Amino acid sequence: MTRILFATSEVFPLVKTGGLADVSASLPEALCKLGLDCQILLPGYPAALQAAREAGSRRKTRFRYGQYDIALWQTRLPGTPVSLWLVDCPALFDRCGDSPYQDEKGEDWWDNAHRFHLFARIGAMMALGQLGLSWQPDVVHCNDWQSGLIPVFLDSAQHPPKTVFTIHNLAYQGLFSQETFRALGLPDYLWRMECLEFHDQLSFIKGGLVFSDAITTVSPSYADEIQTPWFGYGLDGLLRHRAGHLLGILNGIDTRAWDPEQDPWLDFHYGPGHLKNKIQCKARLTQELGLEASGAPLLGFVGRLVEQKGLDWLLAVIPPLLERGCQFALLGAGQSHYHQRLQELARDWPRQLSLTLGYNEGLAHRITAGSDLFLMPSRFEPCGLNQMYSLRYGTIPVVHGVGGLNDTVFDPLEETAAKANGFVFREPTPDALLRAIERALSAITNKKAWRRLQDNGMAADYSWKQRAKEYATLYQNLLTGDGRLHND
Ligand code: ADP
Ligand code: GLC
Repeated sequence: MTRILFATSEVFPLVKTGGLADVSASLPEALCKLGLDCQILLPGYPAALQAAREAGSRRKTRFRYGQYDIALWQTRLPGTPVSLWLVDCPALFDRCGDSPYQDEKGEDWWDNAHRFHLFARIGAMMALGQLGLSWQPDVVHCNDWQSGLIPVFLDSAQHPPKTVFTIHNLAYQGLFSQETFRALGLPDYLWRMECLEFHDQLSFIKGGLVFSDAITTVSPSYADEIQTPWFGYGLDGLLRHRAGHLLGILNGIDTRAWDPEQDPWLDFHYGPGHLKNKIQCKARLTQELGLEASGAPLLGFVGRLVEQKGLDWLLAVIPPLLERGCQFALLGAGQSHYHQRLQELARDWPRQLSLTLGYNEGLAHRITAGSDLFLMPSRFEPCGLNQMYSLRYGTIPVVHGVGGLNDTVFDPLEETAAKANGFVFREPTPDALLRAIERALSAITNKKAWRRLQDNGMAADYSWKQRAKEYATLYQNLLTGDGRLHND
């Protein structure tokens, strides 16, 4: 049985800032269902250790590393049979607040480089069998910059396991000063453009991009895009150089948690072929949010309120749409200037626009079910999960045709009626977004055509079942060493 160590800095439901947490829970579980032995490695944040204690789990080993007292716990990811290892290092991970990366004021922890350097060290030691555990992986699967140094440490070892590095978002690179590089005690040879140095800074993500056996990213379109200067954040040259080892595999979703037929966050349920109750979900949502029961089109948005998600474009199109009577259900948290502008709109249009700042799992489900349209005008989107949730809930997505949005949402102007499931704009401007929304609003009036779009979205398979097989094949190909990334 192939053994995989899945190293990640967040996993749902223990700690989550975005889609990485969802993927880190559902992909390992899907891999285990395929018969692989996939175990997760996570920093020992307070919430994770608390869950481990409550589950009656124990420390597997204790040791000292440099100045740090460390323990390794083995438990299970809540609600799953998946094994979860926690790197318990109170000096680095016992921090207050919900974010794994920032303090309560929203500032990055000053010692993030030290925190994820240690995480990577312990991951590498575990993978090399240096911690006296009875389990050792054949492949270490790393995710984003926080685990980027693991392939670096494994590269200099004898008989290392294979390494896969997945880019969930190239915009976050883990950049630190040269002083930090020295303070971490990394060997001098790594301070080179071909290794970890990036414009005079230490780049954690380059560890994964340079030293891993294979690089994946979370959609085929994003795999192409990141090889261009526009989306490459200065790393496109390196990614072109490694193109033969780079593969795009579309994310799946947790189809149990996101199922309109039995979603515990909803009062009314519906599904493919029986959408009657979707209208009840809308009525209940407008009531919950204090919006006027006018039957006007309801446009939903759930996500981080940051530039990536196209907030500027959204802010430009909301006023004219409000003038036309549209309603909005917005949920998110992020940069304060976006909070302010959205709060002003909510104040001026209380019966038409509802804004909920913060993280709210239940409301995310109710907005997904109760809205007519779901907006994702992302400037770039490595994969995006919300458009797949909304497709599954018969809520028509309006998206910018980039990354995973381009691979999952199909516009009637570009695709056959048998495939179309949403509206896509391609020009990166608020005008293009507005035109796509207008097309969607006029399509709503044609009940039959609208239902066809909904049916197409709801019929498709967004589960991990097939998509996890692509990872399984990749691991196998790395282990048999035939150099191919997939079976094409
Ligand atoms: P990203 O990882 O870039 O934030 P994704 O679409 O991959 O984007 O995943 C975001 C995940 O976080 C989804 O599961 C989404 O529902 C969830 N999410 C984002 N913001 C909120 C929020 N304010 N409340 C509840 N869930 C949220
Ligand atoms: C990142 C991306 C998002 C993707 C998620 C999970 O946060 O921004 O597009 O869906 O990772 O891979």
